[in-house]
Amino acid sequence: MSNKQPLERRIIIAFTLMTLLVSGTFSLGIVAIVHFIEEHLVSQELDRQLHTVVYEDLPKGHPPRLNPSTHFYASNLAEFAIPKQFDSQELGFAEFIEGDEAFYVYIQEINGVRYVLVQEQHEFEAREQALFNVVLAGFILSIIGALLLGRLMARKIMQPVSRLAQQVRHRDQLLPMAPPLAPEYADDEIGHLAAAFDSTLSKLRNSLEREKLFTSDVSHELRTPLMIIATSCELLAEANLLEKEATHLQRIQRASEEMHDLVQTFLILARSKPEEAFLGGQATLQGIADAQVEQWQPMFTDKQIEFQCVQAEAPKETLYNATFLRTVLSNLLRNALHYTEQGEVKLTLYADHFTVEDTGIGIPADFQESIFDPFTRGHNARGEGLGLGLSLVRRICTHQGWTIQVSNRSPQGSCFSVFLAPKK
Ligand SMILES: Nc1ncnc2c1ncn2[C@@H]1O[C@H](COP(=O)(O)OP(=O)(O)OP(=O)(O)O)[C@@H](O)[C@H]1O
Ligand SMILES: [Mg+2]
Repeated sequence: MSNKQPLERRIIIAFTLMTLLVSGTFSLGIVAIVHFIEEHLVSQELDRQLHTVVYEDLPKGHPPRLNPSTHFYASNLAEFAIPKQFDSQELGFAEFIEGDEAFYVYIQEINGVRYVLVQEQHEFEAREQALFNVVLAGFILSIIGALLLGRLMARKIMQPVSRLAQQVRHRDQLLPMAPPLAPEYADDEIGHLAAAFDSTLSKLRNSLEREKLFTSDVSHELRTPLMIIATSCELLAEANLLEKEATHLQRIQRASEEMHDLVQTFLILARSKPEEAFLGGQATLQGIADAQVEQWQPMFTDKQIEFQCVQAEAPKETLYNATFLRTVLSNLLRNALHYTEQGEVKLTLYADHFTVEDTGIGIPADFQESIFDPFTRGHNARGEGLGLGLSLVRRICTHQGWTIQVSNRSPQGSCFSVFLAPKK
């Protein structure tokens, strides 16, 4: 029985197989016993009759005293010559069925003479057949009964399981006010299952609650120092700064803005409320790409890697969530920078998708799906990363309805493509 069968069907099959085995054994037993008794009784009776004929009737010259349905044959008596069909028959008891005719045949050898008694057995055979028919009908009925009963039982047994499955599937269970399930069930295995579900659900609710608090704490606690950094930068910018100092200040300002955006991104992803996705401003693909190219260009130049941004199709004015798009693009560019030692990195912009290609170490085909899992890093991972970049990228894409794909470039390197579905 395959384990993939639904539980209800498995119960029915087990029930039916069990009945098949038990009633089959009984039926075969009845048939065997009837045969055994028939052979035993009839051969005893025929043996008794043969002895009467051989030892009593024949020595006295009397005709054999037999039932009208029994015939006597002997190999040494011409008037009782043995019919040809019994000539080669083995000694002892046998049943003979020829068309409509049915006989018991009993053959013995006494003092070198072969004696045959043949008894017609029409009546008995008819009764025997009737008995067999009854047994067969009983067998078939018990199988049908088992099927029906099995169905009924399976439905009854499965009812609480199905009910529990439906309740568990119900989304409202995650609401804090959803009542526990266990009290609705008996104190049996299903009741225990419901209790286990209640306890897991309450742990889940607690951790969700903690996560909610964590995200609001992060939002509250990080925003204030970030605001202080931003204001201090603004104040500093008004002072008379050397060119080098001004450049550093600009970098601090940009980093603090990015950090603010990132806090926002994590909050939105954690809360996953669609309306909050509009926070943090909107921008076109072209706008975000230009800013990113400006930011990453010096780092590529430092590493002596050629970095270029190509506009392959006329840009569209579609607006995307700026923070999300910036995070996706900057993660892909950071990876391209990290995992490329020489050659080039190319950002190509299309109307509503873009690709980031590099000539780096590439990603083995069987690893291409798992790089998007959190905390997954390749053998050639560089720096102190945690393996979270692409996981964040994919979560953002899922959240926004975008699609990300990765493929290998020939002769080497990788290509990440992000398809931006237009925002409604
Ligand atoms: N452009 C690329 N070329 C080759 N391998 C890459 C590239 N981008 C990602 N990978 C592989 O995918 C893995 C996962 O990338 P991901 O950005 O998620 O993590 P990371 O870069 O290792 O660390 P983090 O981004 O958290 O700092 C990397 O460790 C690396 O093996
Ligand atoms: Mg990375």
